[in-house]
Parts: sequence; structure tokens; C-alpha cells
Amino acid sequence: MRIYDIIRKKRDKEELSKAEIDFFVEKYSKDEIPDYQASALLMAIYLNKMNKQETAYLTEAMMNSGEVIDLSAINGVKVDKHSTGGVGDKTTIALAPLVAACGVPIAKMSGRGLGHTGGTLDKLEAIPGFSIEMSAEKFIDSVNDIKIAVCGQTASIAVADKKMYALRDVTATVDNISLIAASIMCKKLASGADAIVLDIKTGDGAFMKTLDQSFELAKEMVEIGSSMKRETIGIVSDMDEPLGSAVGNSLEVIEAIEALKGNGPKDFIQLCETLGAYMLVSSQIATDYEDGVKRIKTSLESGAALDKFKEFVTNQGGNPKVADDYSLFPQANHIVEIKSEKTGYINKIEAESVGISAMVLGAGRETKEDELDLSAGLLIKKKVGDYVKEGDTLAIMHFNKEEKFEDAKRRFINAYKISEEKAQPKKLIYGVVTKDGISKF
Ligand code: URA
Repeated sequence: MRIYDIIRKKRDKEELSKAEIDFFVEKYSKDEIPDYQASALLMAIYLNKMNKQETAYLTEAMMNSGEVIDLSAINGVKVDKHSTGGVGDKTTIALAPLVAACGVPIAKMSGRGLGHTGGTLDKLEAIPGFSIEMSAEKFIDSVNDIKIAVCGQTASIAVADKKMYALRDVTATVDNISLIAASIMCKKLASGADAIVLDIKTGDGAFMKTLDQSFELAKEMVEIGSSMKRETIGIVSDMDEPLGSAVGNSLEVIEAIEALKGNGPKDFIQLCETLGAYMLVSSQIATDYEDGVKRIKTSLESGAALDKFKEFVTNQGGNPKVADDYSLFPQANHIVEIKSEKTGYINKIEAESVGISAMVLGAGRETKEDELDLSAGLLIKKKVGDYVKEGDTLAIMHFNKEEKFEDAKRRFINAYKISEEKAQPKKLIYGVVTKDGISKF
């Protein structure tokens, strides 16, 4: 078999066989195919697409390119949750203890943020002492003992994806549904969960900007998961404006803790309830969605989820007192209010620009080597649908790098689209995709 012939076949819009896809993934992982030929194949896939069968073969080959974690030593149905990435998306920090307190074993491997979207690992590291590194033995014991552990994704998982993602990033081949679905699902499948709940973000701050694309991606991922015998549910949720109020690592953890105390922003709580209910159904703890929502509400209102959060933090070396004393988080030297320059209704807040504004302040990385300022970020005070007068506070920025403030402020103010017309109320959840089909709300 020759890589040249595989490239030519895809260039000519032909279907690739399992053997050809396996050959490419295996040889590229081992550096036996050069980047220029891999780039040519990825671009041919990007332009001519892959069908469902090819995408499933690609996912399986990528999953098998590294370690496949065996979590069978953990009791119960392990459910993983994955978000395709957004701005202010601190969901895992609140959701994991919420569902763990209901009895779902959460054995989660998370990643870091890059660009305008944040990563769970960076957020957790804002908690003084918290460690995301642990042995496989401690990981498994922790989930069996307290139902929850979150660690960094090991370098040995889905080796092909690391190389392919880096190449896609520089060859304009990221936003292809088959390539995204295979990239996300190979890592989820290799991480060993029995069931997977996917939060597919749609809108300005997401990879998928339109609803049609987002449902297509959800369907593709659910089909891959189901074909690999993992119950997979995809929820399409809004990322046209940032989720909740906080954007930035410490600030987002504080917002997640406030949510666990019953003071969370409405959209954030609704998302946690929806994803949590489906996680409880997937783990066979809840009988149906309504029962799942009821259990999540009880977990929140009884304080069980907050207690679970403290237990989780303590188990991973963190200081649980952060839940009661936010001054223990890294603090910014400058805290400045950002004022509206216009009067009217907020019609849109471009999530991507807000994410970039927070990144400029130091909350995110532009390149993998960038060091984060865990105290930096912003708290949004006005959201879509609100009426503002010139001079009203839109947000509060926290930062240390004074020289970056003006740039971040300008980007933030420009992200707000304010006019005399009141915006139509937007949905947070657009629909659910299961192996049985799509339900749009
Ligand atoms: N996240 C991934 O892990 N892979 C993609 O291709 C896109 C988002």
C-alpha cells in the first residue's frame, strides 16, 4: 500500500477502505509518513468529505493509535461529559460534583485551553494546591471511594490525534465535521467511559457557527459512539454569548462554587441541570429525564453537591476552604469597571471576541507555551436582552498586565451589539440527539 495512492483516491472523491485508513493513521503516528503527504490527504478529506463508515474507521484507528484506558475496576456505569468548547464554560467544575453526589462515577480526563476557549485543567489549577496529576491506581481508587476524580489527559492517549490536530491547525483543515468528530470521539472512547454526554456548542463562540452544522456534528458523534457500543447523547447548546457571567480561571471556579450554593446564573444552572439529567439517565441512576432533573435539583438544594466539591478538592491536594473564602484564589492587582458607550437593548455579545478579550488580559493562551494569569478575566454584568444606558457597567475586568488593558477593553466593548430594538429571547438548549434520532426544541 502507498500513501500516494490513498491521497489520489480521496482527491478523486473515492471512498477509502478500513485498511487504507488504518495504514495512514498507523504510519503517520510513527512518523513514517511526512507532514506534506498527511496535509495533502487531510485537505482532500476536507474538500471531498468522508462518509459515516470512513469516519467510524478513522475514529477507531485514531483511538487505537495510543493507550486505551481500562476503567473496568471502577464500579458502576462511568459517564463522561465533553464540551466542544466555549467562552465562560465552567460546566465541568459544578456538574461533576453535582452528578457524583447523585452516585454517578466520574472518572474524567480533561484538557487545557487554547485560544479564546478555556480548559477545565487550567480552571482547577486556580484552586491553591490542586493537582491534576495522579497515578492510574489513585485515579481508580478515588472514583471508587468518593465517586469523582479529574486528571490531565495522558500523552499516551490517541497519539495520532495530537499530530493530526497540530497539522490541521496550520493547514486550514480544522472545521470539517468528520475530522472534528473523529478527533473528539477517539479521545473520549480511549478514556474508558461506558457512556458519553456531549455538549455541542453552537454560535459565535463555537467551532460550529450554525445550527445545521451543530446538529450534523452531534449526529456524527452520537453515531460513532453508538457504533462503538457506548451510549452517547448529544445536546446542542447556545454559545452565541458567553455562558454565565465569569470568563477567566479563578473567576469561573468562584462562579461554579456560587452555583453549587444556589446562586448561579440562570443559563449556567439550566445547562448543568440538562446535562446532569442526561448523565443520570445514561448511568441508569435516573429512570428518565424528569427524574434526572429532580435528582440534580436535590443534589444542589441539599448541599450534597457543594460537600462533594470540597471532598473532591481535598482528595486532589487542594484547599477546600476556597469554597468559603474566595480571597484564597489568585487575586488581580487591577479591578476596573467597563462602561457602556451606548444606550439601548443588547442584541448580541460576540462570544469569541469576549474570549479573546479575556485571553489578552492573560486568562488564555495564544500559543501552547504562553503562561496563564489565573487571576485575570472578566465578570459580565449585562447580557443579551438587557437594556443599558450610556455609562452603565457592562463588566468588571480583573488583570495584572496594565499594558494589555486598553486592547482588551476595546475588544470587549466592540463585542456588544446595542440597538433600539429589543432582541428576541434566545434558547439555551436547541435539541438533543440520541441514536434514535434528533429532537429539536
Ligand atoms: N476539539 C478536538 O479535540 N478536536 C477537534 O478537531 C476540534 C475540537
